[in-house]
Amino acid sequence: MVEDVSFRVARGEVLGLVGESGSGKTTTALALVGYARPGIRIAGGTVEVAGKLLSGLPEADVRRQRGRLISYVPQDPAAALNPSVRVGDQVAHMLRRHVTSADVEQRVAETLELVQLPSGREFRRRFPHQLSGGQQQRVAIARTLAIEPRILLMDEPFSALDEPTRLEMQELLVGIWHRIQPTIFCVTHSVAEAVYLGERLWIFSQAPGQIAYDIRDEIPFSAGIPPLKAQEQPEFKIATAAVTEAFRRVLEE
Ligand SMILES: Nc1ncnc2c1ncn2[C@@H]1O[C@H](COP(=O)(O)OP(=O)(O)OP(=O)(O)O)[C@@H](O)[C@H]1O
Ligand SMILES: [Mg+2]
Repeated sequence: MVEDVSFRVARGEVLGLVGESGSGKTTTALALVGYARPGIRIAGGTVEVAGKLLSGLPEADVRRQRGRLISYVPQDPAAALNPSVRVGDQVAHMLRRHVTSADVEQRVAETLELVQLPSGREFRRRFPHQLSGGQQQRVAIARTLAIEPRILLMDEPFSALDEPTRLEMQELLVGIWHRIQPTIFCVTHSVAEAVYLGERLWIFSQAPGQIAYDIRDEIPFSAGIPPLKAQEQPEFKIATAAVTEAFRRVLEE
């Protein structure tokens, strides 16, 4: 359950969401996309994004309203990809739904390159089960980036990746932010990742799920600096320590 989760976010802001398991990060992310989770009742409140009301609408209307405004990388990459659709079509499908562009093929190739996947014919013809977990995650990210959304919601997008790839993807995400400047909500279990990616950080607390801390001021601007380099900087270390300490307090409450 989440309760009294209320916030305003500026356009182009990058938020890192942390909190222990079950504290409501995914539920909050889904509410933002306009979905209530199966079996969950929204008892009150509204979700409004860029002046459009998303809450309380039938599913089809939510989809229409959401349009290119928001795209979402779910916690489970398997849930993002249709197992019977080839890589190229996964990305193209999103594009065709939202963009009336003659050069879909070109956009698909560019987007795959953006997430550092092969963009050639062989790779594009593969099915999700013919990819590694990390490649699946990249395809899930590519498909949401293809439409250049104004709001990008990512629920533990890099959790299945090894450390070097994870760092690469963090840097990539910062690069993407520079290119299309979406508002980004990134759920993560890593404080260092949240501090690196985010310029604002939320720590969720349990039962009921709430935003216990909304931290902005102490988070250094690390855009353009590779993660390992950023992590060596004193202001980054101070921020990580402060957030870790706040996280510890939340866990003890
Ligand atoms: N379909 C559901 N029906 C009932 N309760 C649910 C449902 N899905 C999640 N919950 C509950 O809602 C609360 C918040 O869950 P949520 O998935 O948002 O947590 P989370 O912070 O994303 O956790 P994690 O880090 O494990 O992904 C939890 O107490 C969970 O048990
Ligand atoms: Mg979750």
